[in-house]
Parts: sequence; C-alpha cells; structure tokens
Amino acid sequence: MKLIHDVAAMQQTMLQLKREGRRIAFVPTMGFLHEGHASLMREGRQRGDILVLSIFVNPAQFGPHEDLERYPRNLEGDCALAEGCGVDIVFAPRAAGMYPPGFQTSVALGPLTEPLCGASRPGHFNGVAVVVTKLFGIVQPDVALFGRKDYQQLAIIRQMTCDLNLPVEIVGMPIVREPDGLARSSRNSYLTAEQRQQALCLYRALQAVRELFAQGEDTIERLLAAARTQIEAVPAAAIEYLELRDNTTLQPVDRATNKTLLALAVKIGTTRLIDNTVLGEAL
Ligand code: PAJ
Repeated sequence: MKLIHDVAAMQQTMLQLKREGRRIAFVPTMGFLHEGHASLMREGRQRGDILVLSIFVNPAQFGPHEDLERYPRNLEGDCALAEGCGVDIVFAPRAAGMYPPGFQTSVALGPLTEPLCGASRPGHFNGVAVVVTKLFGIVQPDVALFGRKDYQQLAIIRQMTCDLNLPVEIVGMPIVREPDGLARSSRNSYLTAEQRQQALCLYRALQAVRELFAQGEDTIERLLAAARTQIEAVPAAAIEYLELRDNTTLQPVDRATNKTLLALAVKIGTTRLIDNTVLGEAL
C-alpha cells in the first residue's frame, strides 16, 4: 500500500494508472476510520482494480464554530485498517496542498442543500462539493463510494455528478451500526460513557417511527411526535432537526410513504449526531 501526500504526485500516479487501463474505485473520507468506512472500502475492493482511499479533514466544510480543530485524527491506525481492507493507495493531502494561496473557486448547488443539515450548517455542502470535485479531478475514479449515513451529502453528490457530467459512478452504501443500533461515526469518539448510552435515543426515534408507520400511520405530525418522545426522554439530548421528507427531492411531504426519509440531527452535550432511515427500506 502506498501513502501519498503530494497533490501533483497523486494526480500523476492516477493518470498513469488510467493510461494503463485500470479501473479506479475511490472512497473519500476524513479519516479516524471505523466499520462504516470499512464497508465502503470492501465494496470498493470488489468494484475496481485499484482501490484509493483519501483521508482529508476538509477545512472548507467546517463552520467557524465547529469541530475542525478537535476532529479526531489517527493516520497510522487508519493506514492499518485500510491495508486490511485491500486499499492500494492512501491519499492524505495537506490543507495547504488542496487550498493553496489564491484558491477562489466554488461550486454553486441547488435546492437539495437547503433543508436539514444545509439549514443548520450554512456553507457546509459547498465545502463538501468543492473538495469532492477536486478529489475526483485528482484521483480520476471510475466509481466512488459514499455512505447513506450522510444521506443529504450523497443526494447532493449524485446530483452534482450528473449535472456536471463528471465521469464517475456514485455508489451509495447502507448505514453501518453498532450492535445496539448507534450509527458508526468518527464523532462517536467525543461521547462519554454516559452520553454513549444517551445517544441511543436517535436509533429509538427511528425505530418508533418505523413501527408506527408499519402499523398504518402516515400522518407526518403523529410520526414525528413518536420520534420526539424518544428524544425528549433523554434530557441531555437537544433536537437540531427532525423531519420527514421525500427521499429523492428532500422536499416536505403531506403523508408518509415507503419513499419517505426520516432524518434527524441531535446534540448530545456538545456532540452533534445525525441519523436517518427511508421508511420502506431496511434500517
Ligand atoms: P466521513 O465523515 O469521514 O465519511 C466518509 C464516508 O463514510 C461518507 O461517504 C460517509 O457517509 C461514510 N460513512 C460514515 N459513517 C458511516 C456509517 N456508519 N455507515 C456507512 N457509511 C458511513 O463524509 C465525509 O467524511 C466528508 O464529507 C467527505 C465526503 C470525505 C468530504 O470531505
């Protein structure tokens, strides 16, 4: 497994591999890898001759009061996990290499960015879109894998890839959870033992809505109330958003159907956690 930090060297390496006719699979991440990332890498291993992992805590997608400085990092551990998943090349650029002086270009996104995380994290998805576009230009993947854990991010990247004719197949992968249901996340490392238990209210909220929906309830307010009850049972939990929306357009819906997305962001202490489920799909 090769570790490359330099942007130009990475692009040259990838250009050469493309000329040799290799099929490139790509998993972009911010590191501090866990089983969710591993599931993407394993699927990527099946889908390409060369598997590339990027590790880059992208400053452009963090707001001024967010956790950029304290975001967990562990390059050595990440490389060990990546090697075990069959990664060929780890690309870990430095911020100065990705955003040199004079950098000024952005990607304008549409209505998919307006609700949910887009509303609570202004500018976040622009930062994501810019870095993903840059990474696609550097890595030149045939296929790129993203998790449905970040459902809105996946929707935006799909749309952008289509709209800008980027020659990359986007693959969405299921949410990987802990045995007790908590969605795996690098940010789970912020949680104390007590908060780790409290964080289960997100999963309970998803389950409560799914159960009620399975019993035939399709009224948005009643379904959301069931979720809210689960979150409010934990005084340390603060809802940032809790919404039912169309799973493709992310627009509000009048009644819930199999294609309705339940998405939520909840703060446990200072740690912001997100989770989601599409009512007609497996949890
Ligand atoms: P990061 O949070 O490191 O996540 C990298 C990829 O792993 C994303 O596609 C995310 O959806 C996926 N992932 C995270 N937790 C998962 C889980 N529990 N189950 C399945 N997939 C999971 O998302 C980012 O980084 C960044 O925004 C990035 C796309 C790299 C751009 O900077």
